[in-house]
Amino acid sequence: MTGVYGKSTREYLDAAGSSLFPNYRQFPVVFTSGRGSRLRDTDGKEYLDFVAGIATCNLGHCHPGVTRAIVNQAGRLVHVSNWYYSDVQAILAERLTSLTNLDRVFFCNSGAEASETAIKLARKRSFEKYGAGRNLIISFYGAFHGRTMKALTATDPKHHLEAFSPYPEGFVHIAPGDIENLEGHLPSASALFVELVQGEGGVNLIDRDFLLKAADLCRKEDVLFMVDEVQTGMGRCGALFAHQVYGIEPDVMTLAKGLANGFPIGAVLAKSDLAAALGPGTHGSTFGGNPLACSAALATLNILEAEDLPRRAQAAGKRLRGGLEKLMEKYPSLVKGVKGLGLLMGLELSQPAAPFVQTLLEKGYLVTAVAETTLRFTPPLTISDIEVDSVLAALDETLAESSG
Ligand SMILES: Cc1ncc(COP(=O)(O)O)c(C=O)c1O
Repeated sequence: MTGVYGKSTREYLDAAGSSLFPNYRQFPVVFTSGRGSRLRDTDGKEYLDFVAGIATCNLGHCHPGVTRAIVNQAGRLVHVSNWYYSDVQAILAERLTSLTNLDRVFFCNSGAEASETAIKLARKRSFEKYGAGRNLIISFYGAFHGRTMKALTATDPKHHLEAFSPYPEGFVHIAPGDIENLEGHLPSASALFVELVQGEGGVNLIDRDFLLKAADLCRKEDVLFMVDEVQTGMGRCGALFAHQVYGIEPDVMTLAKGLANGFPIGAVLAKSDLAAALGPGTHGSTFGGNPLACSAALATLNILEAEDLPRRAQAAGKRLRGGLEKLMEKYPSLVKGVKGLGLLMGLELSQPAAPFVQTLLEKGYLVTAVAETTLRFTPPLTISDIEVDSVLAALDETLAESSG
């Protein structure tokens, strides 16, 4: 009997298996607690976490500073309607907008909602300025922007099930690097929507020179250059935001995942002349900017800064990359490449990655598989050198077993 509900692992699995929608392919592991880079399941087994809730618990699990902020805020005020302001939301908004050139923020609850908001903002701004017709949203093959209908339509078409038809109109995908195609679409576009590193698409870095050219063309055509930093943001790529590593200034940026270290929140930042397109009554959210979420986000930002975690992501990412490159040399037939930025890192394999995820799980290491053949590593930014070395050793062992 374990967990605060006093059931056995089997009982939790049966309860979940018979009650939840079957939409996730889930591992039969039931977690009950976490601290730093470690998670514990109902059998008392400990795991080293290189998933971090998919690039979300960037400060590690249950960082005491975030927990304290949530507990304190829960004792003061949990929720208030956006008909009113709250102290903590005002302070978080001011803080977030002081970190970039984007001087307005809208709060929502997830990455998909942030994508929806950005798309609506781009369309409305274009409509008001140019009338109907310049509404196209351009995104990339390999992109992932969320699961709601517009965010899904901007996502790579391989995620588009016919059964969800009809999809919204006014979206087009181009290959990263295809400047000619981009130029062709810009006159009818309201925005180019970009992940600088495609996390779900296989940890693919989009070429900086291409992006600089693309951003320049967007500016000339008065098309918004919008970056999706849901996965790359909050220190993960070695700077607070990945666009700072790239040296590219977006017009609009979306955030979620790591923004409140696991407490649900999303945000869209934009320059004030653009944000003006979403005037009163045009968009909103009951929970968006909820005081509890804002207190967690404010604490997260404070800790990221105080502990200099973007720099830690650089150093730990370098160590992880170095180790993965050695494994690539050691297992040339199994490992095809190492890619990523900071602590958003991928190991490209010559075969499906899922069995490796399973074996590593059994050994007590959590990693994810993306784009079929890529193992993705997104540990908390607080990960220690010893923990990085430990996953590398487990991976070495797993690759050795697999190569026979
Ligand atoms: C880049 C990117 N954008 C948007 C999303 C959607 O975020 P959410 O799952 O919070 O809706 C994700 C989720 O993986 C993501 O990686």
